[in-house]
Amino acid sequence: MAPCFSSMSLCMLVFLQVRSLMMASAGRIDQDFDIAWGDGRGKILNNGELLTLSLDSTSGSGFQSKNEYMFGKIDMQIKLVPGNSAGTVTAYYLSSQGSTHDEIDYEFLGNLTGEPYTLHTNVYTQGKGEREQQFHLWFDPTADFHTYSILWSPQTIVFSVDGTPVREFKSMESNGIPFPRKQAMRLYSSIWNADQWATRGGLIKTDWTEAPFTASYRNFKVDPWQSGHGALLDSASQGKMKWVQKNYMIYNYCTDNKRFPQGVPPECSAAA
Ligand SMILES: *[C@@H]1O[C@H](CO)[C@@H](O)[C@H](O)[C@H]1NC(C)=O
Repeated sequence: MAPCFSSMSLCMLVFLQVRSLMMASAGRIDQDFDIAWGDGRGKILNNGELLTLSLDSTSGSGFQSKNEYMFGKIDMQIKLVPGNSAGTVTAYYLSSQGSTHDEIDYEFLGNLTGEPYTLHTNVYTQGKGEREQQFHLWFDPTADFHTYSILWSPQTIVFSVDGTPVREFKSMESNGIPFPRKQAMRLYSSIWNADQWATRGGLIKTDWTEAPFTASYRNFKVDPWQSGHGALLDSASQGKMKWVQKNYMIYNYCTDNKRFPQGVPPECSAAA
């Protein structure tokens, strides 16, 4: 898709045309993604409906979208590495290119069998991140597929799991806080070894006798953002998000005063 820097209306037009192609291809993951790396560890199966990424002691693997996106609601069903996944990280994110890139991140940090995965989220604007929020999940994400969504509009970014919003990053550009709004992003996913830090802060190492570690993806769907749609959360959705944040949030950079002794970043207070 054409980059959207110069002409927004042309960009939206191209997006809408691309959309009809995407609708026609719903369910066929092979038409939207390329396996990007991993020397055969990434696979497209079941007639193009299923994608799997694997990690072993030699390498991980990754895929990327053929298209770039400029706003929209992006859904993917993911089934995470079952059993002992400690030390592994499965990353699933939108990103633009370059040193001032924007990024909207999910990372799934594995754990010992029966111990909870950590859902890690972050938002980068113009090359700067440090906006981590982490959650446990209210279900076992390795037992079945669950839908992980990114809603990205000019006003807000919403992370949701099975339709329940877990995090919202609102545009606070009027307070001088940059928001991803000018750079198109591609969708990426990868699985890799991060046992220096991922599980219990690096205490638990990857058990290579359990390799390969495999995550699965299916039912990718994109709904383009339509100009004029505010996409702010309604009060029922806000209520659900509060429930998740109260019961399942395990880290919030906005309350990490030790890490930010000079004060937490400005968007934390602007949002309050
Ligand atoms: C792994 O399980 C432990 C113990 O329940 C938990 O504290 C931790 O948040 C879990 N996740 C990771 C990635 O360490």
